[in-house]
Amino acid sequence: MKAVILAGGSGTRLYPTTKVINKHFLPIYNKPMIYYPLSLVMLLGIRDVLFIVNPQDLEDFKNLFSDGSHLGMRIDYKIQEKPNGLAEGLILAEDYLKGDKVLYLLGDNIFFGHDLVKILKDAMLEVETKGGAYVFGYYVKDPERFGIVEFDENGKVLSIEEKPKKPKSHYAVVGAYFFDENASQIARNVKPSDRGELEITSVLEEYLKREALKVKLLGRGFAWFDAGTHDSFLEAGEFVATIEKRTGLMIGCIEEIAYRNRWITKEELLELAKPLSKTDYGRYLEAIAEENP
Ligand code: G1P
Repeated sequence: MKAVILAGGSGTRLYPTTKVINKHFLPIYNKPMIYYPLSLVMLLGIRDVLFIVNPQDLEDFKNLFSDGSHLGMRIDYKIQEKPNGLAEGLILAEDYLKGDKVLYLLGDNIFFGHDLVKILKDAMLEVETKGGAYVFGYYVKDPERFGIVEFDENGKVLSIEEKPKKPKSHYAVVGAYFFDENASQIARNVKPSDRGELEITSVLEEYLKREALKVKLLGRGFAWFDAGTHDSFLEAGEFVATIEKRTGLMIGCIEEIAYRNRWITKEELLELAKPLSKTDYGRYLEAIAEENP
């Protein structure tokens, strides 16, 4: 399994801030937004990641993550010339995936909750062994804003619609998808929607047609934000701040996860902490390195 994180887009919903800076670099409380989806990939034990980025942001992404070796990972980049939709990311990733299965993540989605990693790992295993696609539903009050999944009492998916005017359920499809090796091929055959984009929902509809789409609901104990609007951006930051201050533990700290995964050594972690030593972030990393094993 490889991961692909879509981090392009025009970010118009966060204008004027995002006129000159890509939203994925904006801080959700104390670290860039893009750290959060990357941390999820790492928590799942996936070491190969492709970032899909805008041409003008490639250098900034490389400055932030380089080739990922400092985290014990392999990070690659692919340019998306124009924001043509989420499904295009799967087409752009085709050469990179080389027939591998994929965790496809949206760079502005932030997840938190007990057993989240276990739930995702179970889905990952199922796609790895049985193929198909796996998505996750989350109850929202404004279903018109999202891809919406309808299902029967056995959890069987009945329909999936992008930003429906008359939503058939309150369950939004969150921005974390597992796909088997057919995803890029399916995405190639998707026709642009009324808003002119290649929708991820169209890819999911094809999996549904093939009876190969599964959904798991994330219950009320989970927090999910898509930090792509001013309000959700602020709410996500406040949420992270609240939990971190209460527990003293960070959410989305990629260096910590690399260390706890044993992808980097104590010495390497301390090296990463050095330039940050005057910050809370740096001191946090130092404290982790000094913990008893
Ligand atoms: C996209 C998807 C939508 C999904 C949402 C999750 O919407 O098209 O199906 O529910 O991400 O964040 P967008 O953010 O492009 O409006």
